[in-house]
Amino acid sequence: MIKSYERESWASRWGFILAAAGSAIGLGNIWRFPYLAGENGGAAFLLIYLVCIILIGYPLMINEMVVGRKTHRNPVGAFRELAPNTPWWLVGSLGVLAGFTILSFYSIVAGWSLAYIYKTVVGALTPGTDFAGMFVGHITSLWEPIIWHAVFMGLTILVVAGGINKGIQRAVQVLMPLLFILLLVLIGRALTLPGAGAGLTFYLAPDFSEITGRTLLSAVGQAFFSLSLGMGAMITYGSYLRDKDEIAGNGAAVVGLDTLIAVMGGFAIFPAVFALGYDPAAGPGLTFITLPAVFAEMSGGVFFGFLFFTLLAIAALTSAISLLEVVVAWLVDQHRWPRVRAAVVLGVVIFLVGLPATLGYNVLSGVTFLGMDLLDTYDFISGNIMLPLGGLLTAIFVGYVWGTKNAQAEANKVAGAFRIGDWWGFLIRYVVPVAIAAIMFFGIYDTIKSFLAG
Ligand code: PHE
Repeated sequence: MIKSYERESWASRWGFILAAAGSAIGLGNIWRFPYLAGENGGAAFLLIYLVCIILIGYPLMINEMVVGRKTHRNPVGAFRELAPNTPWWLVGSLGVLAGFTILSFYSIVAGWSLAYIYKTVVGALTPGTDFAGMFVGHITSLWEPIIWHAVFMGLTILVVAGGINKGIQRAVQVLMPLLFILLLVLIGRALTLPGAGAGLTFYLAPDFSEITGRTLLSAVGQAFFSLSLGMGAMITYGSYLRDKDEIAGNGAAVVGLDTLIAVMGGFAIFPAVFALGYDPAAGPGLTFITLPAVFAEMSGGVFFGFLFFTLLAIAALTSAISLLEVVVAWLVDQHRWPRVRAAVVLGVVIFLVGLPATLGYNVLSGVTFLGMDLLDTYDFISGNIMLPLGGLLTAIFVGYVWGTKNAQAEANKVAGAFRIGDWWGFLIRYVVPVAIAAIMFFGIYDTIKSFLAG
């Protein structure tokens, strides 16, 4: 006999916005976005990214929030409820699987930021250090990244085990504004470095000759990753909305805040990269190599470095919480597991699944996929394949199975100044699926082709 149980909800409008923005704003903005832009031509990538956010990201954000608030269920349960006795729940399962995969490597990178907090405090950021060497040394060492990965997963488990309201909401209300202010300070510092102008040119003057199918795929993948879309995180967070909460404006606030922080991340990084003579296409190490160099040069660098890596870790934590929450909500809703048990068991399994991603830098360094190391492979498959696929299928589901009219009615049930019009249905039915399908096709084709060409 299944017992009915109380499902929590967000206590206030801002509680939801900040939690959802906390999910969206994370390593994706400050670590992943700048290095992808650096690898893909800078300004041209930024422009394409912004177009993806408007035409694909925002409509899908609404899509997920509506499905969540309508059903008050985790992704699997939501699809089951809206289309009983059909295989559509598999889309929800794909999301749960994607959350699982993303968190397993996300926690490794978040662990790097924890390690850098430590390094900063013990005085490793001194001028003249070879920061590229320091970063490579860290990620290729065996135990250190594993230990920090464990610490980070432990923190994530702790918060998720505690539930929706206690902790998360209060924490994000203080920490998100703090992150914003600190980013402003860093931008100020980066822009005043001698030689910063070259970085601004790179970031703001587009050169479209660099654009390939893979660039487009990376931009779409990044839009999904950064907005936490395509795996049901926003279905899950939306499921804790009260029926009196509105959707269009809340969704716009989350998308706007996330985009703002990503764009700001680029302003903190590229001027510094060029001023200090680093390669903008350095890949995943970009943030961890250039920012320490900036801190080493600036007065009060230890203090600012400490704050920055702490806030990076916190931004990562508020995202990791949402990743684990999706998987936990599925076990709690569908299989009636106690929340604490679900959080602990899943957290430990995800920790183990993540290990190969760090071992790929040492004992498993011989293992590659299409020329990528293991962490990049986890990232590519979840970010560039699973999330866009999940978004594509969810758009088709709402567009053609549940129906955009039903979704619109649900979204506009409580509508503020902002309403979801027919333009939204048009985007969901035609623009979003066609764009995602085409970009995924060409992106994967290009990735394989350029791999074969060596
Ligand atoms: N959006 C988060 C970030 O930018 C990552 C994330 C992806 C979180 C998918 C939840 C779901 O760091």
